[in-house]
Amino acid sequence: MGVRVLAILLVILLGDSTADAATNPDDFSSITGVKSAWQNPPPNWVGADPCGNAWDGISCTNSRITSITLSSMGLTGSLSGDIGQLSELRILDLSYNKGLTGSLPVQIGNLMKLTNLILVGCGFSGRIPDSIGSLRNLVFLSLNSNRFSGLIPAAIGNLDRLYWLDLADNQLTGSIPVSNGSNPGLDMLLHTKHFHFGQNQLDGTIPSQLFSSEMHLIHVLFDNNQLTGSMPSTLGLVQSLEVVRFDRNSLSGAVPGNLNNLTSVQELHLSNNRLTGPLPNLTGMDALNYLDLSNNSFDAADFPPWIPTLQSLTTLMLEHTQVRGLLPVILFSIFSLQSVVLRNNQLSGTLDIGTSHSNQLQLIDLQINFIDDFKQSSGGYSVEVILIGNPVCQETGAAGQSYCAIPQSNTSSYSTPPNNCIPATCNSNETSSPNCKCSSPYMGTLVFRAPSFSGLGNSTYFEHLARSMMTSFQSYQLPVDSISLSDPRKDSSDNFKLNLSVFPSEGVSFNRTSISSIGFVLSNQTYKPSKLFGPFYFIADQYTYFAEAQVPTTSKKSSNVGVIVGAAAGGFVLLLLLALVGVYAFRQKTRAEKATEQSNPFVNWDPNKSSGSIPQLKGARWFSLEDLKKYTNSFSGASEIGSGGYGKVYRGTLPTGTLVAIKRAQQGSMQGGVEFKNEIELLSRVHHKNLVSLVGFCFEQGEQLLVYEFLPNGSLKESLSGTSGIRLDWAKRLKVAIGAARGLAYLHELADPPIIHRDIKSTNILLDDHLNAKVADFGLSKLMGEGERGHVTTQVKGTMGYLDPEYYMTQQLTEKSDVYSFGVVMLELLTARRPIERGKYIVREVRVVMDKDKELYNLQGILDPAIGLGTSLKGLERFVELAMRCVDDSGADRPSMGEVVKEIENIMVFAGLNPKAESETSSASHEEARKGNFRHPYSNEDFLEYSGGFPPSRIEPQ
Ligand SMILES: *[C@@H]1O[C@H](CO)[C@@H](O)[C@H](O)[C@H]1NC(C)=O
Ligand SMILES: *[C@@H]1O[C@H](CO)[C@@H](O)[C@H](O)[C@H]1NC(C)=O
Ligand SMILES: *[C@@H]1O[C@H](CO)[C@@H](O)[C@H](O)[C@H]1NC(C)=O
Ligand SMILES: *[C@@H]1O[C@H](CO)[C@@H](O)[C@H](O)[C@H]1NC(C)=O
Repeated sequence: MGVRVLAILLVILLGDSTADAATNPDDFSSITGVKSAWQNPPPNWVGADPCGNAWDGISCTNSRITSITLSSMGLTGSLSGDIGQLSELRILDLSYNKGLTGSLPVQIGNLMKLTNLILVGCGFSGRIPDSIGSLRNLVFLSLNSNRFSGLIPAAIGNLDRLYWLDLADNQLTGSIPVSNGSNPGLDMLLHTKHFHFGQNQLDGTIPSQLFSSEMHLIHVLFDNNQLTGSMPSTLGLVQSLEVVRFDRNSLSGAVPGNLNNLTSVQELHLSNNRLTGPLPNLTGMDALNYLDLSNNSFDAADFPPWIPTLQSLTTLMLEHTQVRGLLPVILFSIFSLQSVVLRNNQLSGTLDIGTSHSNQLQLIDLQINFIDDFKQSSGGYSVEVILIGNPVCQETGAAGQSYCAIPQSNTSSYSTPPNNCIPATCNSNETSSPNCKCSSPYMGTLVFRAPSFSGLGNSTYFEHLARSMMTSFQSYQLPVDSISLSDPRKDSSDNFKLNLSVFPSEGVSFNRTSISSIGFVLSNQTYKPSKLFGPFYFIADQYTYFAEAQVPTTSKKSSNVGVIVGAAAGGFVLLLLLALVGVYAFRQKTRAEKATEQSNPFVNWDPNKSSGSIPQLKGARWFSLEDLKKYTNSFSGASEIGSGGYGKVYRGTLPTGTLVAIKRAQQGSMQGGVEFKNEIELLSRVHHKNLVSLVGFCFEQGEQLLVYEFLPNGSLKESLSGTSGIRLDWAKRLKVAIGAARGLAYLHELADPPIIHRDIKSTNILLDDHLNAKVADFGLSKLMGEGERGHVTTQVKGTMGYLDPEYYMTQQLTEKSDVYSFGVVMLELLTARRPIERGKYIVREVRVVMDKDKELYNLQGILDPAIGLGTSLKGLERFVELAMRCVDDSGADRPSMGEVVKEIENIMVFAGLNPKAESETSSASHEEARKGNFRHPYSNEDFLEYSGGFPPSRIEPQ
């Protein structure tokens, strides 16, 4: 037993607990090596105990260094190969340290536990080492905006858990690697959602093998490279795609005809290539917001008739594409349209914008065409029309028309305005915040790679952005006073940029911990803006105003220890005694801590304390009981909107005016702390428009409360039983069915790990104000853990009447148990009967009465009259058949939820309904916008990219 260990024991005995966390000596020597390669490590990196002395940016678990987050610390120097010895390291974030240069050490490949490697905005150069392909646990890899050169390592293809791959804005060369028998390649990345490779010097053709229908990509960004050859038709197989950028390459040949298979794509950029053949027919790409096909060599053709059918279009860019003929007036009736740029074509005739165009229309640029007349509508409009270079501007008198004048450049001088206060006069190193306080903000540039909009004149977008970012910082308890955005602009590569300033709420500047945490929220994409903004990244300016915390005076402590050790050494017996007592006390203490932790997983999770584990939350906030009382008039009877076995549900109003539903568990029905924490983590991780989202939670004074979004139209059960006053006709029932099925399919097929709901029933399907269905109540949900894919053996839970008989008998829970319950809900939708009513079981009833040879399968007698008997019930038979397949006795014979979704969609089409209609009507999205409730930019995406807690400095042992 070394003197050092004894000294530690003595310190413990004397009541000083900081030494419990003494850093593992190997980790210490490794981090010392890393530190010595930096000219300016954080000032509190002194002493021999990074864990115990809480070195800035270091966090530990059981004396092992598990994360290093040093975003924006102004570090200079190189990254030492010593980093490779931190064998427990999970997160390494060195983002926004431009002074970190040199190459990435090969030893980085030894960090076998690494999940997040974030080096965005540093100055690294040289080749990306192949050893990076050994990081089998990596989920988030962000190497963008450095100076890396050479080839993309093919070994990245081995990272089969990779979720985010950002190599953009480097100097990478060569072609995109794909696998062949012996070598890996990027085509193997079936779970990756982001390929961000833009702004490099990649060349060669895009291998058709790169894409396949098994992939889950949502963003493919290959812009600004030197890629040649034609676009592979395999791209059309990746139906999950939402943003596609191939612009500014040298692609040639015709656009693959199956591109319109990509019906979720919102932003499509193919401009500035050498594409030939006809303009692609994009009929059916109804989610498309931004379409840019400019500057290619397409065949001359009339203005494509399918363009006006793209009802979500905000931006149409068809510059220099040989389009000719008349511009149809119907184009301008697209409600969301903002900009139309058709410069340099052969359009002719009269320009007629019509009278029904949207008030969002800002720009019609028809420079250099053959337009000979402009029919102006009488009412005033704010559209900027540019017709310079057309015959209409050559007529006498036309010169005075504003549409014939040289256009102003499209800029906006937006800047977040003061918040009802008069800006303060500050000295030179400080700025007046939106709240008119002088302080030194953290600043940088937000870059949006494919926004869905083009009009920069609408400040609504920026206000939403600032608000949502503020909410995100607040939910992580970061000391942020306010956020200011300014100078929106487009760069020459079609990226949209904004300046960001984040102001401190405590004092006039941030300390290092706050800066690195704010940096991490942005570099790790923990904060995601609304889908309007598309994929983004942030580059911070150097922050030089750190409020330095007092550097711990370790010298005093060690001299104490010296005195004690010296005195003790005088008598060996005394020393031994002290040591034994020390060991005992230490064990007792650890045991006591473990015990409290087990009974209450939240002990370390007091938001007022700086340490402790926070659940793995994304967006959900912590509320105090005090706040929730305020929002509900002290849980008054008038705010009560429901009750059940678990307790009561109250309606509350947040200070922002947003309505919420607050579920308060009653004494006796509370879940264990562990279950409660599970539920919060689960709920905050899943985001889908057909799932009720969690706004926040409270766990305080023995109370458990969950705060959900408020759904004004109550449950499906209430609508079916007529208590809510909503009459559901056949079309509406199909809409409810498709919504609920999509929510459930998301849980089964897209959530990672998959989630089985276990309590699907009509009271757990809620309706929003457009009757979109949302699945609620994950209280009984069970995550399908790793290693138990397929089924989980559990104690049977659920609700009688909806319970899968197979699950009931075998206790083996699978997704098919939810499919069974969903089948019962489908029968409820048809009959409005409870599953078990007067002793009769609905599944049996339908089976008995059903006769496929008769009209409506002979079910008239048990159909709900409110469904509209006598009206067209087209598709009802198919719906019944689907329901009966769902309630098949054998799980294996039931369809998956994905299949159920597809079949209901088919039934809707058969019934003459648009299965996609619900979310795409502009009125619905306006409604969402009004509520500050934009859909997530990466819809369907599970957006926690690392599996630890947040902030990473609070990871607890698993
Ligand atoms: C559309 O995508 C699906 C899913 O990947 C695929 O099975 C189908 O073949 C694609 N259709 C075309 C025409 O490429
Ligand atoms: C485009 O495709 C749609 C369906 O795929 C078809 O109905 C339409 O005629 C096509 N339009 C043109 C101009 O080729
Ligand atoms: C700004 O955008 C919002 C949301 O998209 C929209 O409701 C509003 O009409 C727009 N305002 C203008 C002036 O275009
Ligand atoms: C800013 O400058 C003033 C003097 O000009 C100084 O007193 C203050 O401490 C500085 N603030 C920071 C954060 O450096």
